[in-house]
Amino acid sequence: MIDLCLINCKLSPESDLCCIGVENGQIASLKKTHIPAEKTIDVRGKIVLPGLIDTHVHFRDPGLTYKEDFKTGSQAAANGGFTTVLDMPNTIPPTNTAKEFQKKLKIASQKSVVDFGLHAGVGDLKEIEKIAPLHPASFKVFMDLLDNGVLQDIFQKIALLPGKNIISLHPEDRDIVNHCTSRLKSEGIMEPEDYARARPALAEELAVSQALVLANHYQLPVHLCHISSKKSLQLANMSKSLGCTVSSEITPHHLFLDSSCFLKWGNLTKTNPPLRSKSEKISVSELDQVDIIGTDHAPHTLEEKEKNVWESSPGIPNLETTLKVLITHYNKGNISFESIKRVLCENPARIFNMQKKGFLKEGMDADIVIVDLKKTGRITCEDFYSKARYTPFEGFEYVGAPVMTLCRGMTVMEDNQIFPNPGRHIYS
Ligand code: NCD
Ligand code: ZN
Repeated sequence: MIDLCLINCKLSPESDLCCIGVENGQIASLKKTHIPAEKTIDVRGKIVLPGLIDTHVHFRDPGLTYKEDFKTGSQAAANGGFTTVLDMPNTIPPTNTAKEFQKKLKIASQKSVVDFGLHAGVGDLKEIEKIAPLHPASFKVFMDLLDNGVLQDIFQKIALLPGKNIISLHPEDRDIVNHCTSRLKSEGIMEPEDYARARPALAEELAVSQALVLANHYQLPVHLCHISSKKSLQLANMSKSLGCTVSSEITPHHLFLDSSCFLKWGNLTKTNPPLRSKSEKISVSELDQVDIIGTDHAPHTLEEKEKNVWESSPGIPNLETTLKVLITHYNKGNISFESIKRVLCENPARIFNMQKKGFLKEGMDADIVIVDLKKTGRITCEDFYSKARYTPFEGFEYVGAPVMTLCRGMTVMEDNQIFPNPGRHIYS
């Protein structure tokens, strides 16, 4: 007898029914026939996907836990069908020393209900070689906060480390952002819809091209976070064809929303990089040119969001909206089922070196999300486990939603109820 068998599963909308056997938290078999098990879950013909992987979350723990913490953030993840998250280092203190990295590992191990990895920040360059043996998902560099000299030093230092070390980048050019922001401020411009002019697409495109030059020079893999402009994506893909190891990430808001949302939602849609116009942004039909959807789940309080355009905190919470929005677009015929799997499961696992995640195959972790393609409703932040109380997808009528999430065989979400589950560091 195995531990668990999920029966009447569909691996894709067109496929035949199958059974997934789970033993010791791993997938033991994928067969047509039922396997005797201690516990059986009848999926009743619904879709099963590999647990989603979010390569870009901000859980704000430690230091900013009034916005989110590792418990609420990971509960939001499980509620949205995510079983693995990679947390960003811009906490207080930042996760840019070995000591802080170890402290955050402890916090996450105690609080997280899903599996996790941590991106390391970069501050004192001497810490880089001390953090590397702790297996960060990547070294995250905010190009909008650093000058070129420091950037070069960081690449040089990481290139000298043993093994494969990824650099994740927030690609916006600091000088252009500062220049455009001060000019708009001095002109007294205060409307939310002007924010995109303070951080124009060119700032991103310039930073992307610089990142690609650095990646090529130092032969390092780079991951471009939250790409907002079509031209940035073209640059990234061009350099791939020249042999650079580069991956691209898009957020659900940069994919599905555009700058016209500022008129409706004001600063609630303020994020870095800003939402772009329809002509500048990457369109839904171009999703197959992007490697990963990362949510950039970046929660803030309503009070912080409701300040004026320059003071309002940038960032949008996304863990509990992403799959609903994507499945709805699948149902409308705008995107394929295969691309959802590719950008939220397979590519994140491959690019960020997760040996046991991202695929429903024998020997992989039994991270599974069950999706009801027909479930309907309206997105509202009132249903969030996240502490964030806003979303630019508020009122979005969805068709299709996650109804159960299993992390290494343990049910962590069923019908939007969350159960305790000890999340693990995936790179330990
Ligand atoms: C992020 C946050 O709130 O931490 N905000 C955002 O607008 N994306 C930080 C960042 O990625 O710049
Ligand atoms: Zn960022």
